[in-house]
Amino acid sequence: GLPARVTIWEVGARDGLQNEQSVVPVDVKIEFLDRLAAAGLSILEATSFVHPKWVPQLADAEDLLAALTRVDGVRYPVLVPNERGLDRALAAGVRDIAIFGSATETFANKNLNRSLDEQFAMFDPVVTRARAEGLDVRAYVSMCFGDPWEGPVEPKQVAAVGKRLMDMGCSQLSLGDTIGVATPGQVEAVIAAVALDGVPVDAVAVHFHDTYGQALSNTLAALRLGVTTVDSSAGGLGGCPYAESATGNLATEDLVWMLDGLGVETGVDLDKLADTSAWMAERLGRPSPSRVVRALRG
Ligand code: HMG
Ligand code: MG
Repeated sequence: GLPARVTIWEVGARDGLQNEQSVVPVDVKIEFLDRLAAAGLSILEATSFVHPKWVPQLADAEDLLAALTRVDGVRYPVLVPNERGLDRALAAGVRDIAIFGSATETFANKNLNRSLDEQFAMFDPVVTRARAEGLDVRAYVSMCFGDPWEGPVEPKQVAAVGKRLMDMGCSQLSLGDTIGVATPGQVEAVIAAVALDGVPVDAVAVHFHDTYGQALSNTLAALRLGVTTVDSSAGGLGGCPYAESATGNLATEDLVWMLDGLGVETGVDLDKLADTSAWMAERLGRPSPSRVVRALRG
């Protein structure tokens, strides 16, 4: 069966904009977030408190959060890699953070400048301090289904990394197909391996990139196994600057179109959302890669 309701974790302002060639001005980011909230999205990943040289597109995190008027009932999580990032997030009044680990050695090095093992030592004090401050902490795991340098990734390796992050005190585990290579059978295998290690399916979220056009099929496979939180990005913006061959996230419009058709509630107004992505595509100077946005607004 399928869940009656799915929570969409909207990552456009973070995973989307972190990969744009140009730096989007703060006032455009603010309007984007406001329009996403008005379209009914209740979780808006807003930005990252990472090193500004590593991701210049999000170097304005402090300015963005200072200028943002938070909408009641909407959460604005941010990515935090280390204690320096946590200090910055706390100073900006953040209440929800996400750490982001890697399932593979190579990507831990490329994305975090740490070995696979060293990443845990970096995250552990972040989670401990954040929890003591009453923050909610999500854990991402990247390269859960394949890595551009290492090839296929063993489900049990993903599960082991995920379990170590969850044991630190995280509330949710987002399984990332960073480069968009997964197919539905793999999704089932990874979710089963994670469950076997003791992470319940209601604490699991899925994060698909649509490089090979599999993101919706993969999402459906996960929903059938009981997953109820799905990451997506408005208009299909996104990628990852530190992963070769990563293209955009699953488009939120494509996800909402499928869920509307299945009678699964999301609380999202598809019309307002498509308007927002069409508006953002104009700001970025190129058409939205979302099939649904193009069908509705092309
Ligand atoms: P590092 O160079 O090893 O950092 O980078 P360090 O700890 O050695 O510190 C070096 C200097 O950087 C120090 O300054 C620190 O203060 C400063 P100094 O004392 O020399 O003057 N520094 C910072 N400044 C501001 N904010 C900070 C910060 N940290 C250190 N937070 C680090 C390590 C983790 C910082 C770096 O590798 C980094 O920023 N990585 C982030 C990469 C990133 O954001 N990637 C994209 C997000 S992941 C993703 O997209 C995947 C996902 O979508 C899921 C999926 O699709 O799979 C989530
Ligand atoms: Mg991603």
